Amino acid sequence: MSETAKLELDGKAYQLPVIVGSGGERALDISSLRQTAGCITLDDAYANTGACQSAITYIDGDQGILRYRGIPIEELAEHSTFIETAFLLIYGRLPVRAEMRRLSDLLTQNEMIHEDMKFHFEGFPPNAHPMAILSAMINASSCFHPRLLEGYSPEHFDLQAARLMSKVRTIAAFAFRKSRGLPIIYPKPVYKYTANFLHMMFSEPYQDYDLKPEVVRALDLIFLLHADHEQNCSTTTVRMIASAQANLFACAAGGVCALWGPLHGGANQAVIQMLEEIHTTGDDGSKFLAAVKDKSDRARLMGFGHRVYKNYDPRAKIIKAQCHKLLRQLKADDPLLAIAHKLEEAALKDEYFVSRKLYPNVDFYSGIIMRAIGIPVEMFTVIFAIGRMPGWIAHYKEVMDRKNGRIYRPRQVYVGPLLQSYVPIEQRAD
Ligand code: SDX
Repeated sequence: MSETAKLELDGKAYQLPVIVGSGGERALDISSLRQTAGCITLDDAYANTGACQSAITYIDGDQGILRYRGIPIEELAEHSTFIETAFLLIYGRLPVRAEMRRLSDLLTQNEMIHEDMKFHFEGFPPNAHPMAILSAMINASSCFHPRLLEGYSPEHFDLQAARLMSKVRTIAAFAFRKSRGLPIIYPKPVYKYTANFLHMMFSEPYQDYDLKPEVVRALDLIFLLHADHEQNCSTTTVRMIASAQANLFACAAGGVCALWGPLHGGANQAVIQMLEEIHTTGDDGSKFLAAVKDKSDRARLMGFGHRVYKNYDPRAKIIKAQCHKLLRQLKADDPLLAIAHKLEEAALKDEYFVSRKLYPNVDFYSGIIMRAIGIPVEMFTVIFAIGRMPGWIAHYKEVMDRKNGRIYRPRQVYVGPLLQSYVPIEQRAD
């Protein structure tokens, strides 16, 4: 007998089914509440609301646990690659060799974008933010694949998913080259996913970029660690658009726009800008932390805090270790890493942060790795979007595979004027 919760309203009792997730998390199923009790629930920012049941990613925010299809992120970080993990997220299991080869071939076959897309790049001003370009160009590239607009079909899905994952790299690299007035560098079929992206970003017509294995591995790990994170803001946006049965590229373009926000994927760019400001003002971090705690100032320690993690973000731990490893391998140093350390050390001992359970999240150290690789700060959130693409694709597929899938359409509590009449302009008080 499944558990129920009792709601009492206006002297009547209503039984709400209790849904229990794989990790034991319980949810009250209110899908018939309005029909039976004539009321809805209200939950600002959806902090307590489950929008769906999903089998893709499991997070235990209190324990700092993250698992893709049940596999701990630490194991994937150690043993897997971004593209193998992408297959796992999208199809629900680790691929066999033939499946890996097929996905790799599809990515290679679809790495170019239509030559006419170059004209779109000409239309952007040189200082256009690459996230604006990315979102626009993902939608623009869908126009060259009319079958996309015929709606979701399992037999075409594999090609469309590979097409999106492959082309997002090319679009991002072309946007970067264009913004610097550099000639665009076409992809090379001989290179695997991440190496090809670095090639398109940093090679020159007369000389290929020196693909250091430690750099390729570090960026591939960054992509892997960003690949999915259950119902975050941008993924929920993708699911929302998918529920209307818009095409995969339109969903991804919407996800890019949501991810761009500084409270979300834009935080990695904001972290570096914060660290650079602290560095240039000669502050050791203490003045900045004082400003963060000052209610009138309300500066935020970017890269800290999380809606779900009330513990150290497991991705931040892995990225922090990778920062040290890559800087050591490159025999490089970054004064911002020392500042980040100081901020983390001070914050984790400070009552303001401890009482609010604010810990480093995925964005706190990721920028240090990207700086070491030579990726400019305005491209940081684009890197996040490339990494998150397999997660968005997996969630799109999960929404489209639902039996009798319904469009997402939340309710509201209306608090505006209930009824008033139209007043002609000559009768309105100035
Ligand atoms: C990502 O959802 C995901 O899974 C996202 C993500 C993913 O992989 O998709 O993990 C990626 O977006 C990571 C988060 C990146 N954003 C930042 O680093 C920006 C800085 N962090 C915050 O703005 C904030 O912590 C959020 C947005 C991440 C979470 O915000 P919440 O859950 O709405 O929390 P809140 O704003 O209600 O904060 C609760 C309290 C408030 O103080 P009081 O009003 O109680 O006094 O904590 C404070 C906040 O002011 N607080 C911070 C803080 N984060 C929260 N104070 C200073 N610095 C911060 N970073």
